[in-house]
Amino acid sequence: MAQIRLEGVSKVYGGHLVIDNLSITIPDGECFTFLGPSGCGKTVVLRLIAGFEEVSGGEIFIGERLVSSKPKNIHLPPEQRRIGVVFQDYAVWPHKSVFQNVIYPLIMQQIPDTEANERTREAIRQVNMDGLEHRMPFQLSGGQQQRVALARALVSRPNVMLLDEPLSNLDANLREEMRFEITELRKKTGVTILYVTHDQEVALAISERIAVMDPKGYIRQIGTPDEIYEKPADGFVFRFMGISNFLPLSFRDGKMCIGNSDSVLDREIPPEKIDGVRTGKTVAGCRPYDVVLTRDKTSAIGVLKRIIYLGPILDYRVAVGSLELRVQQDIEDALSEGLHLQEGDTVGLRFLDLLWFENRDSEQEVT
Ligand SMILES: Nc1ncnc2c1ncn2[C@@H]1O[C@H](COP(=O)(O)OP(=O)(O)O)[C@@H](O)[C@H]1O
Ligand SMILES: [Mg+2]
Repeated sequence: MAQIRLEGVSKVYGGHLVIDNLSITIPDGECFTFLGPSGCGKTVVLRLIAGFEEVSGGEIFIGERLVSSKPKNIHLPPEQRRIGVVFQDYAVWPHKSVFQNVIYPLIMQQIPDTEANERTREAIRQVNMDGLEHRMPFQLSGGQQQRVALARALVSRPNVMLLDEPLSNLDANLREEMRFEITELRKKTGVTILYVTHDQEVALAISERIAVMDPKGYIRQIGTPDEIYEKPADGFVFRFMGISNFLPLSFRDGKMCIGNSDSVLDREIPPEKIDGVRTGKTVAGCRPYDVVLTRDKTSAIGVLKRIIYLGPILDYRVAVGSLELRVQQDIEDALSEGLHLQEGDTVGLRFLDLLWFENRDSEQEVT
């Protein structure tokens, strides 16, 4: 199989710089995801690697092979890159059976019949579609059709699979099932998988590593799902990965208050963050379950604006001065603490875990 390496890759469309000087290495056999908001350039990166588009600058290697190079004026066509591609809307051919769909690339490559048949059966097995070879696409669910597309990409024995949001047209249950299939596929075949999506949940579930892209196509962080979620590199990543609270802080009478309120944040600030907090450049961030509502009103307090029951979770909106915090609590925990809260109540707030971010990142819009 093969690693993928991008060296200073850029792509310009009609004077508009979409990808700027992107360098990244995706190790052999890894399931690697580009995660970013819609329009940030994920599909463009994939099309550059696949060879459907020429680079405007930089070089791309697949394994040891230089497949795209602006300075050396090299551009290998897709069929010579040993890649398999599955797009969101990469429909299977409706008039061909599962078997005919999957064998098609081998017929194009003029692979002898016996070998082509064997490889087709193998690819169909790899996506758990054995027994359905003779079905027509209209007899398949959306998830099964997507598996046919996967098998058709696998049948050429690619070194690299490029998957562009292949699950986004599926409903939630199927999506979950297919996530598992993709992870299994990588284990079975050892193929390097490059996946692009705007869906945080899918990215966290299937990837060994994730590169988070911002709306301008710059990579903000590369890390394991755990690192991305628990140790976001900046406020953008933090906000993009889930429901987030940003707390601007100010010092008044030697106390650190939340926003423009009198609520005191009863916490140590890391010494290196104090200057930033004083000047307003640094804000604190926390997830909804890192705030606990209490009856203790001696430090931070807020007014409960809304309670929503989300199955086993209580979802609160709490006003602290002009800020609105998102707080979530297990319904069991709320009951065991005897918290019978109602909209309009004044509540105490205890912060379990705080992260510190530069203010500019917290303000950046995420689409
Ligand atoms: N063929 C093209 N011509 C001009 N602009 C394009 C072309 N393909 C993509 N773009 C632009 O590049 C940016 C990134 O697009 P894309 O990679 O499709 O985003 P996404 O991250 O949603 O996949 C968008 O602003 C899009 O309009
Ligand atoms: Mg796209």
